[in-house]
Amino acid sequence: MTWYKVAKDGNMKDGDLAKVKVDGIEVLIIKDGDNYFATSYLCTHEEYDLSEGFMDNHELICPNHFATFNPKNGEVISPPEGSGSISPLKSYKTKVENGDIMVELQ
Ligand code: FES
Repeated sequence: MTWYKVAKDGNMKDGDLAKVKVDGIEVLIIKDGDNYFATSYLCTHEEYDLSEGFMDNHELICPNHFATFNPKNGEVISPPEGSGSISPLKSYKTKVENGDIMVELQ
């Protein structure tokens, strides 16, 4: 596993979502309060780009059909109405070091 710098701490505000590409992998960086989280960026329902989504009450929401995910671990909070269950997002570890937001990828 390797840590990668993805952004500067302080450049994202609460609720911001940013898609970054590290080592060929695109990852969604989420700022929720003082915390940063990282998940895969494609909704597991119909692969909508979650960087176009939004945060509401600590939940990551896909704007396409309103699936909601837990940004801490990628778990599905609620699938789109009538869709049945959907898969969780991949979740990646994050940390802030020397003013940089870091994500751990394999
Ligand atoms: S594509 Fe995200 S809820 Fe349908």
